[in-house]
Amino acid sequence: MGKDDLFAREENFKKFEFNSDVAAVFDDMVSRSVPFYSELQQTFLKLGHSFTQPDSKVYDLGCSTCTTLALMASVIDDKSVKFVGLDNSQAMLDKAEEKLQQVGLADRCELNVADLTEDFEIKDASVVFMNWTLQFVRPLHRDRLMRKIFAGMKEGGALIVTEKVVVSDSMINGLYIDYYHDYKRQQSYSDVEIARKREALENVLIPYRVDENIELMKRAGFQTVDVFFKWYNWAGFIAVKR
Ligand SMILES: C[S@@+](CC[C@H](N)C(=O)[O-])C[C@H]1O[C@@H](n2cnc3c(N)ncnc32)[C@H](O)[C@@H]1O
Repeated sequence: MGKDDLFAREENFKKFEFNSDVAAVFDDMVSRSVPFYSELQQTFLKLGHSFTQPDSKVYDLGCSTCTTLALMASVIDDKSVKFVGLDNSQAMLDKAEEKLQQVGLADRCELNVADLTEDFEIKDASVVFMNWTLQFVRPLHRDRLMRKIFAGMKEGGALIVTEKVVVSDSMINGLYIDYYHDYKRQQSYSDVEIARKREALENVLIPYRVDENIELMKRAGFQTVDVFFKWYNWAGFIAVKR
């Protein structure tokens, strides 16, 4: 796994993109930048497993290097369950394919380049993961995307969404950001790297509040929406189609 030193060596990294430089170090970047990343992957596995139905599909929207689907496919033996990973970055999907080949699961997962803000196919889904991806979809497209996901899901299916979030109280919001930056320092990111990445993500990663995310899912038709994870400015949601 390549070490993420992108923002240590690249002063002119203006706007964050999931390009081949990021894909090359993504697994290191995400595990050091997203608090509880590996614990959350185990939580996704547990939740996902509980909602997977025979003769259905398990989707990962914004699958990146396919960590979640590789875990799911390694424990779900039922061959009537199909795994589909979608991402708009070919560089990420190339890394995903490499990972799936290495663990012998490439034949169980279909990977497609797709932009979630445009037309893409989603159907017969019992589980849909969308982890740390909705925050990169422009707010203008979020309602339509959520309705499309809901329409493509089976009754009893679950959508699992994890996001960076904001808090309307600016004092608490500021504290959470400080605590998150402390976490990044503990993960060996320097203050310069933290500041450059924050700038590169400005207007690229657009977080909602917890209540805005819940309302978004409810508006799309999900009857049950719950917060299964919260750590300062990070949250995980489960939404069920009844
Ligand atoms: C932070 S990563 C997701 C991490 C991944 N879900 C995991 O569990 O490791 C966000 C991913 O969303 C993808 N993405 C961002 N905007 C997208 C869009 N409009 N359509 C499809 N994929 C998108 C990026 O290419 C990137 O791979």
